[in-house]
Amino acid sequence: MNSKTDRSTPTVRTRAELLRQVMDWKRAGETVAFVPTMGALHSGHLSLIEKAREKASRVVASIFVNPTQFAPGEDFDTYPRDEAADLAKLASAGCDLAYLPTVEEMYPEGTLTNVRVESMSDLLDGIYRPHFFYGVTTVVARLFLHVQPDVAVFGEKDYQQLQIIRRMVRDLAFPIEVLGAPTARDADGLAQSSRNLYLTAEERRNAGALQAALHRAAMRLGAGALPSEVLGEARTLLSHSGFGKVDYVTLVDPATLLDLPDAPLREGTAARLLGAAWMGRTRLIDNISVSR
Ligand code: PAF
Repeated sequence: MNSKTDRSTPTVRTRAELLRQVMDWKRAGETVAFVPTMGALHSGHLSLIEKAREKASRVVASIFVNPTQFAPGEDFDTYPRDEAADLAKLASAGCDLAYLPTVEEMYPEGTLTNVRVESMSDLLDGIYRPHFFYGVTTVVARLFLHVQPDVAVFGEKDYQQLQIIRRMVRDLAFPIEVLGAPTARDADGLAQSSRNLYLTAEERRNAGALQAALHRAAMRLGAGALPSEVLGEARTLLSHSGFGKVDYVTLVDPATLLDLPDAPLREGTAARLLGAAWMGRTRLIDNISVSR
């Protein structure tokens, strides 16, 4: 294990080193919470580490830009990477160990074996990025087997990802509790995301409109308005606020992610409103819970 300075989190780069440390902790009766990341850490990630800290005596974070969840032509090569800054941020949030595997460590014999959560992975973002969730579940399953945590924490910002991972954990009976953590937002409501770094200053000024449109729509739906009307208004608001193509704004069952019927939400029911839209060359996603 490499313990650099007291401002950097200790790192391991191989599964063997990782297992030695995790097994030592478990033999000493400690519990392990895990936060998988692709790096380019912001305060949203750090809030996941803080939640993990509350749930277990040790926290492991991984930093791995996973090639299998990027399609050719997506931003795998240009995805922001700053290991030293990430390790300092992890240390400041109280992370005990960072796992930074290489591609060879994660996929030593390539990618013949994949984990696919059918159907839920083909909806919403899966329509626009068909490879994406299959890459995510494949790498998260491998990371779970490497880290062997008791608890894993994922952000609600990637709501579809969170629900798909919950389903994978149930279906494959991973002995891991999956927790969702609330989306961290900037002052104007924009959900924190590593890809916000791609926005120009003007795009950044306009980008808060995504959360504003979802928030307004959630209020209207909570008051009993018809989904088709409200979702149409939200799309129009986005187009008038500088967004280009709107991939979707939709109201779904929070667990299955299936579209809800076009009828006022029944009293006492909960739903999830999700949106994805392009601001310049950056695709932004967000979601919000709706209840009546
Ligand atoms: O949400 C992410 O950053 C990634 O999809 C994850 C869960 C780390 C898998 O690569």
